[in-house]
Amino acid sequence: MNKVIVLGSINMDMVMETDRLPKIGETLLGETIDYYVGGKGANQAVAASRVGAEVSLIGKIGDDTFGSKVYKHLENEHIDVSAVISEKNIFTGVASIFKLKEDNAIVVLPGANMLLTNIDSELNERITAKDVLLTQLEIPVDTVKRGLQLAKSKGAITILNPAPYNDQVPEMLSFVDIITPNETEFEGLLGHRIPNADQFEQEMLNWSKANDTQLIVTRGGEGISYTTKNEVVTVPAEKVMIVDTTGAGDTFNGILAACLAKGMSTSEAIKLSGKGATLSITKLGAQTGMPTLAEIEAF
Ligand code: RIB
Ligand code: NA
Repeated sequence: MNKVIVLGSINMDMVMETDRLPKIGETLLGETIDYYVGGKGANQAVAASRVGAEVSLIGKIGDDTFGSKVYKHLENEHIDVSAVISEKNIFTGVASIFKLKEDNAIVVLPGANMLLTNIDSELNERITAKDVLLTQLEIPVDTVKRGLQLAKSKGAITILNPAPYNDQVPEMLSFVDIITPNETEFEGLLGHRIPNADQFEQEMLNWSKANDTQLIVTRGGEGISYTTKNEVVTVPAEKVMIVDTTGAGDTFNGILAACLAKGMSTSEAIKLSGKGATLSITKLGAQTGMPTLAEIEAF
């Protein structure tokens, strides 16, 4: 089977529920805390694995309690973790997620994720021309660039989820087959704001005419928009009860990579991944709601 290789971040997400954020100098009593394995790399790897892909994750953790918890969790999700390396004297990445009524507020402490460099041998040992490389931007940007370049030189399919957006993304595009920004990240890619929502699709078309990379924009409740030769196709999102949108984009990207590794067409893959992302927001935590293939087909 063709593989999905995920090059990316691994975090422990601490989800704290509170009515509001504390003011400076204030101590506030919150309500609950939950611990979930997160990080865009780990999330995307789990999403791909749940739908049946063979997945390898390349990443770094610290030699602390969170590190061993996260490692075991990823193993239980049937992910090849032989390239998840534990580093001494550094902490495992942590995301402090304040779950507020309006939306989440997140502080990420990257820790060991920032030590993910020199990935050539890990990637060379695992990737072949039939595989898919999936990466994001919560690890050093040079590592992302190198990973994409190496994967491309091997003839693999490369997907860049440009999250969080980084100004060096345009320099990587020659190694990127598919780019999957959300709406804000797409504005980063354009280099300007889109003042009027009506212009969104036109901006997508203009960008696609000027670039060889396949553009897919995840638009939350609006669904997924992607470009074909002369038009923008939007797959609307189904309405569900929203519990937690954390990791919805990761679910989309992971399933997309899995579908492409299986040889599915891009449009079929996008439809399935969009449904998967919608299902994922019905449960708390980034990974809890990530569906299996059977669950997507039943939806
Ligand atoms: O995309 C969601 C992820 O972003 C969370 O799991 C958190 O770890 C942050 O990195
Ligand atoms: Na969720």
